[in-house]
Amino acid sequence: MKLVVQTGDPIRGTAGLYAEGGFRLPGDKSLSHRAALFAALAQGESQVENFLDSGVTQVLLTCLRQLGVQWQLYDRTLIVQGGGLDSFSANSEPLFCGNSATTMRLLTGALAASGVAATLDGSAGLRTRPMDRIVMPLIAMGVPIQASDQRKAPLQLSFRDRSKPLQAREFFLSQASAQVKTCLLLAALSADGTSVINEPASSRDHTERMLRSMGVEVYQPNSLSVVIKPPSQPLKPLRIKLPADFSAAAFLIVAALITPGSDVWLTDVGINSGRTGLVEVIQDMGGKLELFYKDNQAGEDIADIHVQFSALRGVKVQGDLVVRMIDEFPIFAVAAAVADGQTVVKDASELRFKESDRIKAIVQQLSHIGISVIETEDGFIINGGQPINGGQVDCDGDHRLAMAMAVAGINSNSQVQINGAEMINESFPHFVDLFNSLGANMAWQL
Ligand code: S3P
Repeated sequence: MKLVVQTGDPIRGTAGLYAEGGFRLPGDKSLSHRAALFAALAQGESQVENFLDSGVTQVLLTCLRQLGVQWQLYDRTLIVQGGGLDSFSANSEPLFCGNSATTMRLLTGALAASGVAATLDGSAGLRTRPMDRIVMPLIAMGVPIQASDQRKAPLQLSFRDRSKPLQAREFFLSQASAQVKTCLLLAALSADGTSVINEPASSRDHTERMLRSMGVEVYQPNSLSVVIKPPSQPLKPLRIKLPADFSAAAFLIVAALITPGSDVWLTDVGINSGRTGLVEVIQDMGGKLELFYKDNQAGEDIADIHVQFSALRGVKVQGDLVVRMIDEFPIFAVAAAVADGQTVVKDASELRFKESDRIKAIVQQLSHIGISVIETEDGFIINGGQPINGGQVDCDGDHRLAMAMAVAGINSNSQVQINGAEMINESFPHFVDLFNSLGANMAWQL
């Protein structure tokens, strides 16, 4: 489907999880994945409020059902009957992970811990994404797993006798990745001793916080390492209210910053420091963006965010900051295009392994609406202050690219058409309704 975006009114109002009668921000994607999967590994009934009901979480829920896990989802509350670490039942049908690398990498870790045989597969896009980063360390732990060329999906796990535990290891990851870290932490639940995972930069630590709240002994001796002991007791079920997704809120943040006259409050948003690099960057760019701390739920900080139209200036983004805003580069590129002066992004080659090669996709798709971006090996350079033109773009099967293009369209001098924009439903259902309710002018076309 095509999304057609025209200049609308300023973006004004409030969006949050509990908007009465209005459209809501989605629950956190990373936390929804973890909560559904970890609840299945716990002993007893878990209750997860504000669960993200979207494409990428539906594939995980369907896989869990195939593995014999009982769950119900009513009005954004997910109830899971967890049966413990060894409760998955083998299923001869492949587990289809759709476009979701999070589903594939996390579920593989849980299956490695459980010992059941399974095949995990995904969409053509997911089949191109690197899986050697989980396959190689899992093999080192003794997990009977194979991939095509040891590198890509489909992944094949053979039966493992759970009376023989996996081997505890110390890993030094070559890339900072919360998905890889989580996969190994889950496998380590069935290891014969303490495992340690070291990263080159610190990625989001949702898994560590959630597992700790479930009674697992997991700690971070420093910001780059995590230590986990296999539990001697069953994992405690979850009772958790998830915050709104910061990475979804980021589209409204940038829309408000670059659209004259805008003023928006985003309420109950998760502000895990592994996710909020964009806040620091926007403040560095001169953006009027403030966070008001509100609550903590199962170890996760939650805030209300106030953002207003601002004159932005170019900025340099590099090093550890890249990891803390890894999902925000498509929308950040739109802010950088509008800002005054040059923006340089470095140390971001991981962007080439996301739902699309995001460096290439940003360069190509922004060029269709008149914004010139210079591609570098590990990032991009934008000379800001460029007018945004109308035009046709393609989102390359990437939900975040589609949403970034829609925000660019709000500020373009004529219509922007985004082909394949239904991908937005992978992570942000009601994106269009929510934006329109705040002043945007977007419409679906067949
Ligand atoms: C995620 C981690 C990130 C992120 C993805 C969700 C997670 O991937 O890009 O959208 O939930 O752990 P990497 O850990 O591979 O960087």
